[in-house]
Amino acid sequence: MSVWAVLAAAGSGERLGADRPKAFVRLGDQPLLAESLARLEASEWIDAIVVAAPPGWEEPAILLAEELGCGKVSACVAGGDTRADSVRLGVAEVPPDAAVVLVHDAARPLLDDAVVERVVAALGDGWDGAVPALPIPDTVKRVEGERIVETLQRDELRVVQTPQAFVADVLRGVLAGSDWTDCSAAVEAAGGRVRVVDGDPRLLKITDAADLDRVAALL
Ligand code: C5P
Repeated sequence: MSVWAVLAAAGSGERLGADRPKAFVRLGDQPLLAESLARLEASEWIDAIVVAAPPGWEEPAILLAEELGCGKVSACVAGGDTRADSVRLGVAEVPPDAAVVLVHDAARPLLDDAVVERVVAALGDGWDGAVPALPIPDTVKRVEGERIVETLQRDELRVVQTPQAFVADVLRGVLAGSDWTDCSAAVEAAGGRVRVVDGDPRLLKITDAADLDRVAALL
């Protein structure tokens, strides 16, 4: 069974206010992208990697992969305007005989191999996908403008992370759809069965400069 990782790294990262795309902002002494690349490379669960790089940054992404000795990187494509476009372009490079596609955001650098194992091992038994999820400690409200219209049942809610693993043929079949914010949403919308597994609180997503400091402190 071959497992292909698609690393979505093509975001501009405008909210970071940096002079370069988010994947190439420094985290410790390396570009942010290096962390997830090296961790996917080291994972026994991953056979090959496709990187969706910021348009115009494919060459630096390939050089970085070479520097890190990431022999599993089989393609590096320019990403698209949205995350969904970047994932589509990345998945297009995955060969037809791949069994599983694992999609991960470079914006979550602290990828622990135990999470990769949990999502990949959760497939089978009729599950089309598996995503890491965490319970929500806060009470969550639905609002319309300034007005609260509903208090949601907290124990039914989860925040989800990446990496998300999917049966490759299922993912390919749903990617043409609309502009979902995670791949699971596309599979769910098509009636697929997606399972939640335990997430990891360290899989923080870097959006702004404060997130970068927080993650750097955890390195
Ligand atoms: O922008 P945001 O942080 O939500 O993006 C989540 C992930 O999707 C990041 O790793 C980012 O690089 C990636 N992305 C992408 N192509 C885009 C936008 C975001 O690969 N056009």
